[in-house]
Order: sequence, then C-alpha cells, then structure tokens
Amino acid sequence: MSVHSSIRKVTTHQLHEMKARGERISMLTAYDYSMAQIVDAAGIDVILVGDSASNVMAGHETTLPITLDQMIYHASSVVRGVDRALVVVDLPFGSYQGNSKEALTSTVRIMKESGAHAIKMEGGEEIIESIKRILTAGVPVMGHLGLTPQSIYKFGTYNVRAKEEAEAAKLLSDAKLLEEAGCFALVLEKIPAALAERVTRSLNIPVIGIGAGGGVDGQVLVAHDLFGITQQFSPRFLRRYLNLYDDMKGAVERYIADVKSRDFPSEQEQY
Ligand code: KIV
Repeated sequence: MSVHSSIRKVTTHQLHEMKARGERISMLTAYDYSMAQIVDAAGIDVILVGDSASNVMAGHETTLPITLDQMIYHASSVVRGVDRALVVVDLPFGSYQGNSKEALTSTVRIMKESGAHAIKMEGGEEIIESIKRILTAGVPVMGHLGLTPQSIYKFGTYNVRAKEEAEAAKLLSDAKLLEEAGCFALVLEKIPAALAERVTRSLNIPVIGIGAGGGVDGQVLVAHDLFGITQQFSPRFLRRYLNLYDDMKGAVERYIADVKSRDFPSEQEQY
C-alpha cells in the first residue's frame, strides 16, 4: 500500500477510544494474504495471526508445534493483504517462555520480518517481566487469559476455565497486572460471562472475548470456524455464518465431474 493512502488505519489508541465510547471491537483471525484481503475489506478492526494456524492451517492437534518462522511466514502474508486493520501476531509456544530476552528477540523478529503492528502472549504474572521488556522496545502487547491453549497439557482439557473462585480471583489479579504492565488490550477465552464482564468493568483497556459472553468490549473468532470451513469444531460460543466446507466440497465434486465428462473446458474456455 502507498504511504500516501487516505485509509485511516486502526491503532491501539483507537481501540481504547472505542471502549471509552462503548463501540464494540471486531476481531478475526487470518493466516494468509487472500483471507486477510477479504477480512480487511469487510472492515474488521483487528486481524489476529493466531497460533491457531497450527490447527486450522497445518492440521496439528494443538497450537504447540507451530514455530516462530512459520508464524512470521503467516504474518507477513497477512500484512501484505491489509490496508486498514491492526495486525496482531501470536508469539508461539517456546518463543518467549524461557526469559524476557528470548521474548524480546522473538518479538523483534516478528516485527522486523512481517511488518505486523503488535504481538499477543498467553499468561499472567509469570510473563510480566517479558511484557515489560517488549513494551520498552515500543511494541504493543495484547494479553490472553482464561483458556490458554499453549498450556493445554497443564489443563488437560479445553473446558471452560475459571469457574472456581480461586481461579477466578487469580484471573482478575492477572488481568490487573497485565493492564498495569502496559498491555493495550486483553483476550479472554472460554470463561464464564459474568467473570468476563467483571474483568471488563475493572479494566480501562479493551477486553476481547471468545466464548466469554457479551459483556466484554469486543469479540474474536477463528475465521475458518466462522466460515464453516472447519467442521468438527462446534463449541457453544461459535456462530457459523457460512457452511463453506459443503459449498467448497460441492464445487470440487462438480469440477471433477466436468473434467471426467469432458464438459470442461468448453470452446469458450480455450485459446
Ligand atoms: O490463536 C488464536 O486464534 C487465538 C484466538 C482463539 C484468540 O488465540
């Protein structure tokens, strides 16, 4: 995109203003150029290059296998397709848990090599030092609490988190710490709606929910789930807007039939 473009890009400051005036924030994942173009042209506020790419793009069972290099590949593809949205990239498992220096090195690689605008990290108190170091380098950080899929082997399931008092109290205190550390926004995944609303009211930064009810400042979904490309995944919080799996499969079946019957290509479809 030209540096003289008149498009008003979404910034972290605008997200804060949206929270202040009660305007809901829309966020969706994208992992490639073509999808990012569609999502951005529709007017989404934030595009997340999520490590869910490990599941929906690469077919892994968890988000753990995706590498920093692979995230950078996805992020740079997305950035090339975006004119307006804020592009946030997940720091993948193993690229920041070691220490704050490692976290900063991984972040700098993402920012330099992809051109994205911000990063997202899973966790609370245990990663505060890393968040502060990344912020010192001028990179906006989005937090992520509740169900944090990079810790799936610690939790054991993808069930709703923080239903018990002790875990809810820890989540509230972690959310406060993330805000105090300087995170510009927070994702809350799969927690009771009442708790998510309480966190949202207690913070000045925007809270974006996935399976966290309607009392938060915005919503995020995995694009492949919204489009109905993924089929097996049907949690209660998911609203499918299309059934692309069936539509695309049907299109391929018609194409195969046309090739076999020699209907394709027609006279008009050749030189
Ligand atoms: O990786 C991802 O897609 C995410 C969202 C589910 C918030 O972290």
